[in-house]
Amino acid sequence: MRGKAALLAIALGLASGCYDGAGEHTSPLETFGTSPVDDDGDPTAGSDPTAGEDGESSGGDAPADDGGMDPPSELEPLTNEQVRFYLGMLAPALAGRSLSYDENARIQAEGEAAIIPLLDAWTLSPGFADSMRDMVQNELQASGERDGIDFELPGNLVAQVVGDGLPWSTILTADYCVDAQGAMIECDTGAPFEAGVLATRAYLIPNKGRFNLTRALRMLEVFACRGYPMEPDVQIPLDKDIFIPMFQAQTPEEQTEEEALGGFGNGAGCYTCHSQFGAHAQFFVKFDSDGLWQGDATGLQAEGLQENGQPYELGTSYNGLNASHFGDPLDAASEQSQMFGESVANLREAAEVMASHPLFYSCASKNLIGHAFGRESGTSEEIDRALVTALAEEVLAVTDDPTIRDIALIVFTNEEVIRTAVAGLE
Ligand code: HEC
Repeated sequence: MRGKAALLAIALGLASGCYDGAGEHTSPLETFGTSPVDDDGDPTAGSDPTAGEDGESSGGDAPADDGGMDPPSELEPLTNEQVRFYLGMLAPALAGRSLSYDENARIQAEGEAAIIPLLDAWTLSPGFADSMRDMVQNELQASGERDGIDFELPGNLVAQVVGDGLPWSTILTADYCVDAQGAMIECDTGAPFEAGVLATRAYLIPNKGRFNLTRALRMLEVFACRGYPMEPDVQIPLDKDIFIPMFQAQTPEEQTEEEALGGFGNGAGCYTCHSQFGAHAQFFVKFDSDGLWQGDATGLQAEGLQENGQPYELGTSYNGLNASHFGDPLDAASEQSQMFGESVANLREAAEVMASHPLFYSCASKNLIGHAFGRESGTSEEIDRALVTALAEEVLAVTDDPTIRDIALIVFTNEEVIRTAVAGLE
């Protein structure tokens, strides 16, 4: 705790200096200043950097000002070598380059105190927008151009959101796409709504598949860092009787579909996972395998033979569409479903719910850590769940609609993140 308070106090001191005359940029550090200070019960530190670390340690009978001596810290301060190692790892991930000569000199002179100003400058630089673009493009495996389809649309949007300092939620909720020149354009699915990176052919085509499962799974893995089944109090399972019989099964005996008896490698308790999975897959029911929106999609399992004489596969519908999990034809044809406990009309509203959920922010923190240190993110447990949950809480205590810069500053000034990263230095 102490070590962290000290680091944040450093942050406060430098932040105010750093932002004097910083121009039109709004400073998340100003906002951040109130959060850690509140946590430490020292309301004065935010306005007076020199008051820093004293307030929290003094009980009622503590001597007054000791002239700025540091309180004893539980943690050894970082050595300059550790700071250089840490920032050297972060520079490519955040600034898109290695440490400059001047930055190295600053680390040599200031040690730990160099962390905040360098992170601050990097996350305002164009390199940060490019790096965040790379991060999301890797997560979505979407880039380039094929068959006249622009797979750069998700990346373009991310770069615009970061470059313009827009809330990170915008990557899921933007009602526009962005072209290669950075201009706002309509997206390319033909749907009567937009949903950031999700309602793009670049997202929909690579993730197409039976029952639209892959589209749902990828969305959840990349933006909520969850798979199926997930916490039932977050994604409330839909009622059993809404599903086609195959997905109601909880035991092999209940399984009515011969092809499903093997459980597709995931076990016999279909309902356990697909009661959540099916809710999310439904948002994609009108997007065909070319990523185009077809308003008259039925979501019904296709019967009979395809044009090529082969029977339709389980989970597919007509016209390159895929089948719904739902039994009732009205339910099957509707994009209306449930996202994280809320009833929503379509993918756009689902994206809004997801982008305002704490899981979106713990997952963004996890993705940043994964991106910077080459760790597995998504549903992997390689990055501590408790850590990223705490980071998201810290971010959301400051603002309920943070930028990725806000999130990155919290994540990469976190004592545990720093100590874990420098532990790799032997
Ligand atoms: C542990 C959770 C879980 C259980 C239990 C489960 N599934 Fe799935 N199911 C998944 C996941 C995850 C996928 C993969 C989605 C993807 O990557 O496209 C999947 C994929 C599928 C697919 C698409 C397979 C393909 O090749 O396209 C079908 C159909 C399916 N499941 C049906 C069932 C049925 C029927 C049962 C019960 C017999 C069942 N699942 C049990 C999680 C589960």
